[in-house]
Amino acid sequence: MSTELSAGNVVGFQALFDNPLFAGGIGLGALGAAAAFARKGALVALGTARRRLLVNVEISKQDPAYPWILAWLSKPRETPGFIASRLTRIHDMSVTTLTTSRGPAGVGGPTNAHFFLQPGYGRHIVKHGNAYIAVNREKHNTANMNTGEPHEIVQMTTLWAHRHVFEEVFAEAHRLAARANEGKTTVYSVRGMDWAPLGDPRTKRPLASVILDEGVKESIVADVKDFMSRQQWYIDRGIPYRRGYLLFGPPGSGKSSFIQALAGELDFSVAMVNLSEMGMTDDKLAYLLTKLPKRSILLLEDADAAFVNRRQRDSDGYSGATVTFSGLLNALDGLAAGEERIAFLTTNHIDRLDSALIRPGRVDMTVRIGEATRHQAALMWDRFYGDIDQDHSGRERFLARLNDLGLFGVGANGEPSNRHTSTAAIQGLFLFNKNDMEGAIEMAEGLIPRKFEPMEKNPEGAIKTPA
Ligand SMILES: Nc1ncnc2c1ncn2[C@@H]1O[C@H](COP(=O)(O)OP(=O)(O)OP(=O)(O)O)[C@@H](O)[C@H]1O
Ligand SMILES: [Mg+2]
Repeated sequence: MSTELSAGNVVGFQALFDNPLFAGGIGLGALGAAAAFARKGALVALGTARRRLLVNVEISKQDPAYPWILAWLSKPRETPGFIASRLTRIHDMSVTTLTTSRGPAGVGGPTNAHFFLQPGYGRHIVKHGNAYIAVNREKHNTANMNTGEPHEIVQMTTLWAHRHVFEEVFAEAHRLAARANEGKTTVYSVRGMDWAPLGDPRTKRPLASVILDEGVKESIVADVKDFMSRQQWYIDRGIPYRRGYLLFGPPGSGKSSFIQALAGELDFSVAMVNLSEMGMTDDKLAYLLTKLPKRSILLLEDADAAFVNRRQRDSDGYSGATVTFSGLLNALDGLAAGEERIAFLTTNHIDRLDSALIRPGRVDMTVRIGEATRHQAALMWDRFYGDIDQDHSGRERFLARLNDLGLFGVGANGEPSNRHTSTAAIQGLFLFNKNDMEGAIEMAEGLIPRKFEPMEKNPEGAIKTPA
């Protein structure tokens, strides 16, 4: 039965093939399949050839070299030759605008704007030396979870024979970026789970513009420079190459300004964390310290925040979303702490800190940056009015006035006074009286700190508003 059937089938097939329409269909199908096969083969061959003949470099937006490469791509270049110049014309650009308020004189004048054209998204061709480089800038539809910014890459392709051109390109891009940042200090702050430059790199603040009490600045600078020259010494002794400084004192005494100026002096950047900032946790701090930007001073502002926090945790068992004392200690010398590091801590409330913090390895040098002294007031005067007060008579009158007001810690009758002023206040007075030293002397009374009555606190620590 079954053999009969199969024989019948064979006969049936034969009949089908005898049908010209069917045979033609099969023929076409076979041709199509062969074409598809050939196409696939060609693609594979092309892919293999591409891989063999071309070199690809991909740079993602997260990489520090990304902005350098974009800047390098937008650098004006002369491409001789009709075809080469047509080929390398960039037709799609994107613009980055920098505005500065240093516009023409006149209040409310328009701000200055600089436009930087960069190759936009898409494909471009650039020529470097003899090599053509195909550039593809792409925005992906995935985004960085921390910042919400879409992922972006630049892909550069050149011939295998020209692969060495990339080294040159990266070196040149880096040189360009370094030149653009010469004389600038970059300040990094925390964005999401990462360090990001806080605005554009700012002009270096000269160390001489920060006026601390006699010898204070010199001793810190000497210590830091000595530390920087002793890396091998630390390595030989197996000690982590780290040093910590704690600057404490009242607000407006120049702590942050000094650290910024010091970074400029050392040609370092500043990586700043505000410990009192909401959302800064122990884990986050530890993680950030493992990826501190190279050649940067770690600046931990408001170090006392960690201690206030500990107290809160002691009393109600909840630490909130901020850094704790142990988190700070770990950051300074725990496992998360980098092998190489210069850290500066600042605080207005030294009394809130714990002695565990101030031990060598965590904080090696503690310096008080205090209220303005006579020495500082005199130097600040010279910086502002030195050119119009050649005989220093104005300076002497100003200092005498401050002394009479009891602002140097001694009252008019020679008794100790509790009155002090800050260098920030003196700077404010001088800024208000630009080129007008008489005005500054007249208004010196304004340096007396205004007293704000402290609000009464009830035993729970809540602030009671006066009835
Ligand atoms: N010793 C100083 N020399 C020069 N400028 C100073 C000095 N102290 C303060 N200033 C000026 O006052 C302003 C505030 O200074 P800065 O932010 O450095 O103070 P700070 O000590 O960090 O204060 P805070 O404790 O509130 O953070 C800045 O504009 C700075 O230029
Ligand atoms: Mg400060």
